[in-house]
Amino acid sequence: MSRVALVTGAGRGVGLEICRRLGAAGCTVVLTARHPERGAAAARSLREEGHDVCFRELDVDRPAAVRELAARVMDEHGRLDALINNAAISIDSAGLATLELEVLHRSFDTNFLGALGCCQAVLPFMLAAGHGRIVNVSSDHGSFPKLAAGNPGYRLSKTALNTLTVILADEVKEINVLVNAMTLGGSCEDPGAVASAAETAAWLATLPDDGPRGRFFRDRAEISW
Ligand SMILES: NC(=O)c1ccc[n+]([C@@H]2O[C@H](COP(=O)([O-])OP(=O)(O)OC[C@H]3O[C@@H](n4cnc5c(N)ncnc54)[C@H](OP(=O)(O)O)[C@@H]3O)[C@@H](O)[C@H]2O)c1
Repeated sequence: MSRVALVTGAGRGVGLEICRRLGAAGCTVVLTARHPERGAAAARSLREEGHDVCFRELDVDRPAAVRELAARVMDEHGRLDALINNAAISIDSAGLATLELEVLHRSFDTNFLGALGCCQAVLPFMLAAGHGRIVNVSSDHGSFPKLAAGNPGYRLSKTALNTLTVILADEVKEINVLVNAMTLGGSCEDPGAVASAAETAAWLATLPDDGPRGRFFRDRAEISW
């Protein structure tokens, strides 16, 4: 039976390409997106390419829906091997001095709490199975050596996501659940960078049991937090 991977925010962009790579790696992919038409069309296009992909609607800002979906995947597929937390927003342009708290709340809701909620929804199944892979799609903007002015809400939320990655990876270190984070090697406008990021995500989602845990990657190479 093939591995089952759930990808968030996958109706377009990097998430969609991650689904394609996971499909090519032989996974059954649960492509999730908050807009049903976009997500269904994306899944259909991947099925037409020969991949085993189904669409499920998911807004990661809704924790109850996240838990329901994880249970549904278990009902339908009997396993949930990998979670790729890709969904994110980047909505702030002001500096920290004038950043509206509402913008910060929304950034954290999706980029941090959304990812945490997905982890909490899938972990009981992964812990019961004694197997799981969690990939947090983060950003250079959350990397300490690269912290600087600009997009503070996004940066803070991605820094928190990186911290979550280290804490959770350590929390489950006795169990065969590997939690890692990654970033893109270039702009999402660059198809090569998107393809490389998707390959990195698929690699982290299918790591062997002795693979890395609690690390940060770009283009399959470990980088500093
Ligand atoms: N773009 C870059 O250069 C870059 C660099 C480093 C890291 N990243 C990270 O890479 C990941 C993908 O980025 P991208 O460039 O592909 O961005 P994108 O095109 O903006 O895609 C983000 C995806 O997240 C979805 N999303 C947003 N809020 C959501 C929610 N509440 N529930 C479910 N889905 C939600 C969006 O859905 P809709 O289609 O409904 O809006 C979209 O599909 C993100 O985590 C991003 O932070 C991007």
